[in-house]
Amino acid sequence: MKAADFVVARSDLQQCKIIETQTPDAAALPDEALLVKVTRFAFTANNITYAVLGDHLKYWSLFPAPKDFGNVPVWGFGEVIASRHSNVPVGEILFGYFPMATHLVIEAADVTKRSLRDGAAHRQDVAPVYNAYARVGGDPAFAGKQGDYQALLRPLFMLSFLVDDFLAENEFFGAKSVMLSSASSKTAFGLAHLVHTQRKDIKVIGLTSASNTAFVESLGCYDEFVTYDRVTSLPANLPVAYVDMAGNSGLREKLHRHFGEQMKYSGIIGLTHRLSSPDEKFELPGAKPRFFFAPDQIRKRAKEWGPGGIDTRFGAAWSGFVPNLDRWLEITESRGPAAVKQVYLDTLNGRVPPDQGHILAL
Ligand SMILES: NC(=O)c1ccc[n+]([C@@H]2O[C@H](COP(=O)([O-])OP(=O)(O)OC[C@H]3O[C@@H](n4cnc5c(N)ncnc54)[C@H](OP(=O)(O)O)[C@@H]3O)[C@@H](O)[C@H]2O)c1
Repeated sequence: MKAADFVVARSDLQQCKIIETQTPDAAALPDEALLVKVTRFAFTANNITYAVLGDHLKYWSLFPAPKDFGNVPVWGFGEVIASRHSNVPVGEILFGYFPMATHLVIEAADVTKRSLRDGAAHRQDVAPVYNAYARVGGDPAFAGKQGDYQALLRPLFMLSFLVDDFLAENEFFGAKSVMLSSASSKTAFGLAHLVHTQRKDIKVIGLTSASNTAFVESLGCYDEFVTYDRVTSLPANLPVAYVDMAGNSGLREKLHRHFGEQMKYSGIIGLTHRLSSPDEKFELPGAKPRFFFAPDQIRKRAKEWGPGGIDTRFGAAWSGFVPNLDRWLEITESRGPAAVKQVYLDTLNGRVPPDQGHILAL
């Protein structure tokens, strides 16, 4: 059967192409392997971060591609179309991490009623979450538009949830406001929603581009917002925390110099701007900028909250978040190589309006 992969040049993400391949014959699949058709996946700025950090965090090793190219991982759905595993039938629907491709062969391991894992040797260098698949056939929370929301937002909202929990646990490091860069991004507005609804004494300030202020205002979960060119208009005499989705070192420096010792926490979460130099050249006033490493917070809470503790709390937070999405997001579904390439390049170059959620299939 014909198959296709969308791959990008690892040293120049503007270069991308489709390669045509063949799926393995069902009869030639190894024992316990599944042939999965990738039915739909989400694409946001976060996937670009996976590509930017592909070498560093080993994302390129997940889905092999020709030399010097990489296949960008995406969150989405697949349907099992051939199975050599006795407990996984053809027709099973899986939710998890997929390549931008029409098909994936999964070496099914640790199969339970609700999940399985890809045990392929080349996938074992990354955190376990990237190899786990939920079996979601028949689950209404993963069907239709709810499924689109899961693919678009669930992994991002997990980060929002963990950052909110970390800040609250540390009493916002004494800050009375929290500033979020890339305020119009899904990860930022998930965090803004959590702080706004749960931490009544903390003011949420969004930093965004001029073109996205109307969207940020319409969300209703930022108490205040300011464009990047006007951040020094914020009053500098009150303690603040900074959660940086943009990864823009120029902006970070400007904020630290403006707030000085009132900058109580400075956490680096994302790289949406991608133009920054990775290392600060000099010491900045205020709290030392540090990377927020989600697995650390997960490990800590898994120990403290016990089995199912994170899932239960995350589930409650997700239930409070999802009803807003019909107002905040419009799902745009596109199919085929040309559409996938267009959405990839538009996202890479910051041309996707923040109220659009792209769901794709090759
Ligand atoms: N560390 C983690 O585990 C983790 C997990 C999830 C997300 N993140 C990070 O959070 C960030 C947001 O991801 P998302 O998927 O939520 O984003 P998204 O919804 O696709 O974000 C769209 C917004 O990001 C900004 N943006 C997008 N592309 C840009 C570009 N090329 N240049 C400048 N700004 C651009 C714009 O916001 P403004 O106009 O408001 O600036 C845009 O409205 C990413 O950097 C992602 O990697 C990190």
